Amino acid sequence: LTRLGVLVSGRGSNLEAILAASRGGVLDADVAAVLANRECPALEVARGGAVAVVRAMPLGEFGGDASRRDAAMADQLEAAAVDLVACAGYDRILDEAFVARFAGRILNVHPSLLPAFGGSMTAIEEAFAAGVGETGVTIHYIEPSTVDAGTILAQEPVPVRPGDSLEDLAARVHAVEHRLYPATIQAWIEGRVARPQGVAR
Ligand code: GRF
Repeated sequence: LTRLGVLVSGRGSNLEAILAASRGGVLDADVAAVLANRECPALEVARGGAVAVVRAMPLGEFGGDASRRDAAMADQLEAAAVDLVACAGYDRILDEAFVARFAGRILNVHPSLLPAFGGSMTAIEEAFAAGVGETGVTIHYIEPSTVDAGTILAQEPVPVRPGDSLEDLAARVHAVEHRLYPATIQAWIEGRVARPQGVAR
């Protein structure tokens, strides 16, 4: 089984979907570690899912130095023998040293059809406010010096329907995330997806 490390900051609904897929046997992966940049509900999801390594690693513990924190996170993930890192609502930019240590092995889920509404933690709200006819979900690699701009593995459009409230749209986008992210992680495991430039399998 592929060993997954999941990085979180928020509610943990994508983590929940990954854990459910793993338990249900549709994802050939074990969640070996869940790390967060702060205490958050997602860590409770991890504890409830009996993940072996669950840690909040707030900047304060590292003298406010994000590179030290990211190095410690990478150390934790390596100690847990993680093969693939899945960011699931993680709201910090990982530094270049971290990204280099896991080159081609860090994925992210973003709630828009990138490049539209990239670089923002409020992509669903922005798409709703812009009045677009569709938005969607993107699964992409995290690559050095990019924000929401790494090689795309999968995208799925989500329609905005007349009369939708923001909550209606957000629920529809999240439902697609919860299906598409585990499915794309499985596709990565099976080698059925694009690889970022310069990274061998
Ligand atoms: C998701 O919409 C994800 O795409 C975005 O942040 C949200 C995280 O939600 N990056 P959750 O913590 O997985 O519930």
